Amino acid sequence: MASAKPCALCFLLIYISPMALALDDPQIASSLLPPTKPTFHSPRSVPSEGYYSPLSNGGSMLTIVDGTFPAGQGEPLNIIISANSDQAVLVDQETDGGLRNYWLSFDYAGECLGQHAGSQQAANLGDGNGVLNETDEIRYDYNDAQLGTCTETIEGGGHFRYWTQNGPKANSGAIFMASSYELPLTDGHDIVSNGYNLGRDWIIGNITQTNIPTLNLTNSSTYSGTTSYGGYTYSTSVKYVSGLLQNTSVGINHNLTVMTSSSNATDGLVAVLEVKITEKPANSADFLIPFLGWQLPPLLLLLFATILPFIYL
Ligand SMILES: *[C@@H]1O[C@H](CO)[C@@H](O)[C@H](O)[C@H]1NC(C)=O
Ligand SMILES: *[C@@H]1O[C@H](CO)[C@@H](O)[C@H](O)[C@H]1NC(C)=O
Ligand SMILES: *[C@@H]1O[C@H](CO)[C@@H](O)[C@H](O)[C@H]1NC(C)=O
Ligand SMILES: *[C@@H]1O[C@H](CO)[C@@H](O)[C@H](O)[C@H]1NC(C)=O
Ligand SMILES: *[C@@H]1O[C@H](CO)[C@@H](O)[C@H](O)[C@H]1NC(C)=O
Ligand SMILES: *[C@@H]1O[C@H](CO)[C@@H](O)[C@H](O)[C@H]1NC(C)=O
Ligand SMILES: *[C@@H]1O[C@H](CO)[C@@H](O)[C@H](O)[C@H]1NC(C)=O
Repeated sequence: MASAKPCALCFLLIYISPMALALDDPQIASSLLPPTKPTFHSPRSVPSEGYYSPLSNGGSMLTIVDGTFPAGQGEPLNIIISANSDQAVLVDQETDGGLRNYWLSFDYAGECLGQHAGSQQAANLGDGNGVLNETDEIRYDYNDAQLGTCTETIEGGGHFRYWTQNGPKANSGAIFMASSYELPLTDGHDIVSNGYNLGRDWIIGNITQTNIPTLNLTNSSTYSGTTSYGGYTYSTSVKYVSGLLQNTSVGINHNLTVMTSSSNATDGLVAVLEVKITEKPANSADFLIPFLGWQLPPLLLLLFATILPFIYL
């Protein structure tokens, strides 16, 4: 009986030790791992617009797509997440309120079971990195973060490819997204009529809970809204800007089927998003300090008061 209680104490001490707590929490556990390769290669500098125009440094606002007919057509980079957003949002991760958690807050997630169903596209953001393949393709998840993107792969829907402007010549950290709305897989994933402009505006519609009037947008249209996921709340301000993309169908992938009598394949507007985190979950430090600071000592005192007499007897 005298030996059983000190062991109960050992067990409790191991169980409530900070390390055991840390390893239970994926966010703290990942912070204990060696740091991953830094994303930025030169000091980040953010112009007032929140991004550098790819056009001013040999880049393009159209992606590079293999095997188009005629050759050389691209898809519009029609959404930018401004580098004036909170730094945490620009980090490509799901933890700590990062980019992937932001996307989940409006029901966009990585591809179905990690499989890449679409073809790769490339882009040159004029940042000195030259032409790079897409970082990843992200799909509407039909409100099911686990399997919803499989539905999108089969039934079609909203999706986007993205790149980060972080090369040595224009290291803003802004995220450039090429969004569109595609037909079901059986139709070869072609883009629906007006599907670049609508793909952009349904994303903005979901972020702002507003029906965006695609055909009436101008370069003075603005919207805002809030979304949440994983305990993080994001406040997004959206501004449509002209001058980056042209208002045209020429050179746009699938232009003949995407353009309509009332709109070119791309209307020439880019939605620029400035994202701020307005609420976060109680973080690890907030959790550990009250727990160890206030709860552990009384608990230990109580344990020592009741158990120590047995150890020394
Ligand atoms: C980019 O994607 C193409 C396929 O579209 C692939 O052949 C090529 O190897 C990729 N390049 C890199 C650097 O991953
Ligand atoms: C939200 O996204 C879905 C899927 O793309 C779309 O059907 C719907 O119209 C969007 N909602 C708004 C308000 O834009
Ligand atoms: C677009 O503008 C026209 C003319 O100003 C107006 O009649 C129409 O209701 C607007 N459409 C939307 C969706 O706002
Ligand atoms: C907005 O678009 C108009 C043409 O529709 C153009 O004259 C004006 O310069 C643009 N303004 C900005 C701030 O880009
Ligand atoms: C489409 O773009 C061309 C320029 O390439 C322009 O002349 C035409 O008016 C535009 N059409 C629409 C419907 O916006
Ligand atoms: C579609 O783009 C090609 C160039 O890629 C151009 O030659 C053609 O005129 C465009 N079609 C229309 C209807 O704008
Ligand atoms: C695109 O150009 C057409 C024709 O000039 C114009 O009617 C339309 O408003 C333009 N679209 C935008 C978004 O500026």
